[in-house]
Amino acid sequence: MKPVILDVDTGLDDACALLLAARHPDLDLKAVTCVGGNVGLDDVVVNTLTVLEAAGRSDVPVAAGAAVPLLQPVRAAPHVHGADGLGNLDWPRSTRTAGAGHAVGLLRDVLRAAAASGELVTLIPLAPMTNIALLLRTYPDAAAGLREIVFMGGAAGIGNATASAEFNIWTDPEAAGIVLSAAGELGVPVTMYGLDVFYDVVISLDQARSLGGSPSAELARKLIEKRSELYRSEGGASIGDGGAVCAVIDPAGLMTQSFPLRVELSGSWSRGRTIVDTRDRSTDLTSDPHGPSPTVVQVATAVDGARYADLWLSTVK
Ligand code: BDR
Ligand code: CA
Repeated sequence: MKPVILDVDTGLDDACALLLAARHPDLDLKAVTCVGGNVGLDDVVVNTLTVLEAAGRSDVPVAAGAAVPLLQPVRAAPHVHGADGLGNLDWPRSTRTAGAGHAVGLLRDVLRAAAASGELVTLIPLAPMTNIALLLRTYPDAAAGLREIVFMGGAAGIGNATASAEFNIWTDPEAAGIVLSAAGELGVPVTMYGLDVFYDVVISLDQARSLGGSPSAELARKLIEKRSELYRSEGGASIGDGGAVCAVIDPAGLMTQSFPLRVELSGSWSRGRTIVDTRDRSTDLTSDPHGPSPTVVQVATAVDGARYADLWLSTVK
């Protein structure tokens, strides 16, 4: 089994990712850490506990982390996820509480244990990277427990929060910049599962309606129906963040290319944009005489959507 940690701002599509990670037999879900993003931190925690309960995985440690980004206020997305973050679904909300410690402490402890055992962990940030930046700045030694980082965020093409920027990176650009540069310095491999592929793993409404018979399957059906409704799409809905978990389970379904990557931290209209340097590589693009070097990451360029949709459906049912 592959050890993984999810960092989430649950979120309808984070919920799709959580169901998959909690139930797939090839993954060992070590912990889930929460951060403010799609909704405020308190709702993120309740939503996360609710989804894990539906998946029959209340055993997974959950911790609350940063409520706000490093430098700017949180800007929730109720138009995408509903006021409570889970589309105000007709579904009982968990009454449990998260663990007492901070998310950064839970990440540190799990990663230090992984480093000691040699069973390295894949970290899957599906939200603004505030917790991860705090971790790598406060306890850089914990990076020794990381096998790789596969994050949902950014885009080589257009954004969604703005014309330039994707929501997770736009919400906390400084955090994303810190994580990328730390990963580069510490030698942690990074894959960017960005908007270029995010919408391409689609569950049709017919497929969603075939789900039922267990709490996980019932919730999965409601998540897709609600996402279709909020996106006004009769063709179904993408599992969004869930695709990044598919990429960890089945990397062969994702096409990637290696590119230098930076995060734009200023700019009137471009703050939070991920700058993917696709220029000719005959010159060395990784050492820049004008500033800090970019980090070379695997950028997702295409995905086998049908393959990942099958993977998700067969796991959450
Ligand atoms: C990302 O932002 C959130 O709305 C989703 O949960 C996803 O992580 C897409 O831009
Ligand atoms: Ca998310």
